[in-house]
Amino acid sequence: MDNVQELREIVNPVFNTAKSCIQLDAIAGDEDSRQLLGALGFGEFAGTKDNKRVPEELAKKVKQLFPVYTVLIDSRFQIVNNLTRSFSDRSVVDLPCGYTARGIKMSRQGRVYYGFDLPAVTDDIGPAAAKIIGDDKNIHYSAVDATNYDSMATPLDGEKKELLITTEGLLMYFTQQELEEVFSNIRRILQKHGGSWIIVDRAYSTHDSAIASAVLNNDPEMVALYNAITKQAAGTAADVKLNDNIIFKGTDEKNKTFIEEMGFEVKEIGLGDYLPDHFGVLAPMSAEDARVRDVFRGMCFWELTVNEKSAQKTVLDMPFRVESEFANGKFTARIEGRVDTITAPELLNQFKKADGVKAIELNLEKMSYISSAGLRVLLIMYKALDDKDQFKLVGTTDSVKEIMEVTGFDRFLF
Ligand SMILES: C[S@@+](CC[C@H](N)C(=O)[O-])C[C@H]1O[C@@H](n2cnc3c(N)ncnc32)[C@H](O)[C@@H]1O
Repeated sequence: MDNVQELREIVNPVFNTAKSCIQLDAIAGDEDSRQLLGALGFGEFAGTKDNKRVPEELAKKVKQLFPVYTVLIDSRFQIVNNLTRSFSDRSVVDLPCGYTARGIKMSRQGRVYYGFDLPAVTDDIGPAAAKIIGDDKNIHYSAVDATNYDSMATPLDGEKKELLITTEGLLMYFTQQELEEVFSNIRRILQKHGGSWIIVDRAYSTHDSAIASAVLNNDPEMVALYNAITKQAAGTAADVKLNDNIIFKGTDEKNKTFIEEMGFEVKEIGLGDYLPDHFGVLAPMSAEDARVRDVFRGMCFWELTVNEKSAQKTVLDMPFRVESEFANGKFTARIEGRVDTITAPELLNQFKKADGVKAIELNLEKMSYISSAGLRVLLIMYKALDDKDQFKLVGTTDSVKEIMEVTGFDRFLF
């Protein structure tokens, strides 16, 4: 496949959000992040591709709020680092690892570390981290899609220790259906390896406004600016609808019921014991620092362990395969198995031969699952046609139809 990176960027631009995270960790003064940023060779804030960038006006406003973002992202990084240290007998699975320097820190502590992220990220972070830590056999970076069980289970095959899976900055990008896939996958992994899963995203989403207010000296105008543009900026960089699942839309009660229904037990971890000595850009002992600490002391992460007594949702994974041809202006393809971030670039690659396409017919009889990355490819195909009536899906199964209905794709695809 040629232009692999370009195809990956098209099917799932969400990885762009991770670039600003490492930039903010470096601004906050983390030396490893600074070095890693140099090794990664990233340019300015918020991505590399012009069409994926946050619009200029929005970027200017975002910059006024840098101290808030720095505290939010750097605190998340440092608090999870501290937590990870306290689970010293576990192997660490960082899902998603983004471009952070956690692997470098784990290497120095002699820990076993798995950095899991989309291929667009792991292709860059793996070699960049190796420039700093050399060839450390305990540090692994693997290309995964969290909705794809095999992609995460395979790299963990030989792992003997219990796992500490940590998740920061991920769950807000998933639809409800994808979220359930991810929960089901992590449960299967923990059933096999033991250990637990720490989720920080809910705590940050319910407290981000309070943290912003603490950093911004309770200035109502600046806090309103933060609230107005933050989600828009993050959504633009990721090109998705953010926070569209129960973790962000439900009450604590509803969330706990959901987690239990997914076959987990949940325990709260108070953040008070894991706070860093200083919060990057905030002067130690300053009023801002004290206010921010107060907010964090009231926050809890969730630690999930498998509840063996509850039933598990079964996920059937069929291998992905696509066979296609392009003749007389018509592109036909037979698509089998899961179409997700890992597999969708191949589908898009095959479509590249359809120059001047007039009609498309896709046979989906054996498609078991399609994620937003796959739907994006279908949309690209649909948009390539002048006459939209020439777009035909054949044999769509009920479960794939349901995904299309939930995401609103059915309105134009059928
Ligand atoms: C906001 S970043 C956070 C990364 C890192 N935890 C940090 O704090 O910098 C979101 C990350 O989620 C990754 N991601 C998005 N969808 C994913 C999926 N389906 N499977 C695995 N990783 C995914 C993106 O590639 C990106 O690196």
